[in-house]
Amino acid sequence: MKCVKVPLRQLNDTRIKLMESGKMNIEYRIKTEDGFGYIPVNENVEGHEIVCMELEAMKRVPHSFAEILKDELTEDEIETLRTSFDTIGDIIILEIPDSLYDKRFEIGKAAHDFTKRRSVYMKKSAVKGTTRVRDLEFLAGVDDSVTIHKEHGARLKLDVREMYFSPRLATERKRVMESVSDGEKILDMFCGIGPFPIVIAKNKTADITAVDINGEAIRYLNENINLNKLKGSIKTYAGDIAEVSKQFNCKFDRIIMNLPGLAYTFLDLAVELIEDGGIINYYEFSDSYEQGEKRLKEACEKKNKDVEIVNTRKVKSTSPGEWHIAIDGKVTEKQ
Ligand SMILES: C[S@@+](CC[C@H](N)C(=O)[O-])C[C@H]1O[C@@H](n2cnc3c(N)ncnc32)[C@H](O)[C@@H]1O
Repeated sequence: MKCVKVPLRQLNDTRIKLMESGKMNIEYRIKTEDGFGYIPVNENVEGHEIVCMELEAMKRVPHSFAEILKDELTEDEIETLRTSFDTIGDIIILEIPDSLYDKRFEIGKAAHDFTKRRSVYMKKSAVKGTTRVRDLEFLAGVDDSVTIHKEHGARLKLDVREMYFSPRLATERKRVMESVSDGEKILDMFCGIGPFPIVIAKNKTADITAVDINGEAIRYLNENINLNKLKGSIKTYAGDIAEVSKQFNCKFDRIIMNLPGLAYTFLDLAVELIEDGGIINYYEFSDSYEQGEKRLKEACEKKNKDVEIVNTRKVKSTSPGEWHIAIDGKVTEKQ
């Protein structure tokens, strides 16, 4: 390493001048030895003695994802990536646009270095099929898709390759949990690994029935029940809610229907299973609440019931102009 050699009493002034002129090499540490200081430089500096020394490299902690990638990508490209980070436990899931596909491993490594999480994957498809799972490609770290995600004090174990889970619904789950009263009998028709049941049962003395067609998701939910200290109870079923519900011999104070693309096809069943005065937490993808409210009303009408829409909200944006929306309906028998 090329260094400027100066007596110690001149070290500070010389360091400042070299920094200001851009000649100092800031990737290495200054060394002092036998009354002299050795300042790493990028080039010869007139008026100074230049020597070669072994110097220690600076351990620079990248301040941001952008800093790591600044030589690889443009600012616009970095901005696109910034919004597409999902953290699930010690796993990062990136959404990388097609235009940056060739740089996916550099981007994955940068995400790994920056976040220090164990594994980095990229989305290779949208969520699809009955189980709403997406294809993932491994990019960096350790290729292990099982993790434990922490949400509102709950521990949620899952395999990101095998079952649906979105950390972006955390606020919605908290909101639903806060609206639950102790003692409620709840059905989660499409529970996945059980984030709604676990977060609710951790905080409320509810009696929850949780159903999912993905048997692996139910296997993880059973583990999650043991991983968390619960006030409430959770009974799990693996299977299609349309079939499993034939075994139920009770009605529910609340039914959670988070299968936004298809929940409307199960509304008749939900209206049949809801207790008089119970709440249906209904979800769908839409640009407004009108369609969902109409579907709820029509399903209730068929069973001679009324529905009062007690709350509506946008859970998250799915595409420009379209939202994952929530509608809470209170269902009562017609007088
Ligand atoms: C969008 S995910 C929601 C999972 C969970 N509620 C959550 O918030 O993470 C929908 C879930 O519905 C399940 N599913 C789809 N069709 C079903 C059916 N007919 N009966 C039961 N579960 C079903 C899928 O396997 C998937 O886990």
